[in-house]
Amino acid sequence: MKIDWQNLGFNYIPVNSHIRYTHQDDKWNSGQLFREPYITLPIAANCFHYGQAVFEGLKAFRCKDGKIRIFRPIENAMRINRTLSHILAPEIPESLFLEAIMRVIRDNIEYIPPYGTGGSLYIRPFVIGSGAHIGVGPSNKYDFMVFVVPVGAYYKGGIKPVNALIVEDIDRAAPKGTGHIKVAGNYAASLKPGKIAKEKGCQVALFLDSRTHQYVEEFGTSNFIGITNDGKYVTPDSRSILESITNKSLMEIASDFGMTIEKRPVHKDELESFAEVGACGTAVVITPIGRIFIGDKVISYSQEIGPVLKQLYERVTGIQYGEYEDTHKWLVEVI
Ligand code: PLP
Ligand code: COI
Repeated sequence: MKIDWQNLGFNYIPVNSHIRYTHQDDKWNSGQLFREPYITLPIAANCFHYGQAVFEGLKAFRCKDGKIRIFRPIENAMRINRTLSHILAPEIPESLFLEAIMRVIRDNIEYIPPYGTGGSLYIRPFVIGSGAHIGVGPSNKYDFMVFVVPVGAYYKGGIKPVNALIVEDIDRAAPKGTGHIKVAGNYAASLKPGKIAKEKGCQVALFLDSRTHQYVEEFGTSNFIGITNDGKYVTPDSRSILESITNKSLMEIASDFGMTIEKRPVHKDELESFAEVGACGTAVVITPIGRIFIGDKVISYSQEIGPVLKQLYERVTGIQYGEYEDTHKWLVEVI
């Protein structure tokens, strides 16, 4: 297959293989690579009816020295286990999670975008309850699969600012619900707000806390970062936000830069005071927010990425592509 590396975007394309491990009788099997990008499941599989479906997202990079490295996979292993435990599904040993990713990457090496194109290999581990039963309860069988896809920028236009709509009448996650973990249902809940946002010319929906609708939580696919006029890094603290590995990494980088980090409730009235606002996550990296629409009000920021977010973007991507020393030991070498 001929790939236009410069214009990848964030689109599914079939590759050589995916890997699949099955859990039955209290153990994971030794896994197998499959060429066909399809799976056959019982009509009564839990994932279709009772929502045992969870996923992760991480990336592998072709680095400046030609080596292939994955960004912080153990963080994703720990997070998928927090998610699995919450929905009563079996956890995955970290070594097995890493092995699965390594096996599928090695079988799909030619799909990793060349260094210099700005692309990467997006890795999608996921687990589904695949046992057939009709009574509501956890599945007696699970499949853990990993597929990969070469990707470029999540939003068209690279790191150009996007607009966000604060959706006030639909909640994404309940205060003590599943917002902090990565269950597929969270994304189902974000689809309608996402559509409403698009209809209003916004690429992303920004959610407020579901209890009071006063505090900023996160975007549908990423965490929220605000940079204050005096250069502080502010990100919301809430039980119903996904703990982003990108955000965690950016906070460490910001701290290396000597910035003050504030992880705390962020009132929606504070939005106007930020010098820069960004969305951060594996898929979106750091995407600057150009405007936030709330009710009939519009809050405008710079229409170019601001200097602080730019510096953070350059450092995190620089580490990922092996251009800066990986002082935090975040990268795991594949080959
Ligand atoms: N928040 C949500 C709802 C997400 O889907 C994601 C993406 O995984 C993130 C935040 C960012 O998390 P991470 O940086 O670990 O990719
Ligand atoms: C990611 O950034 O990995 C995500 O999971 C976000 C989105 C593509 C669902």
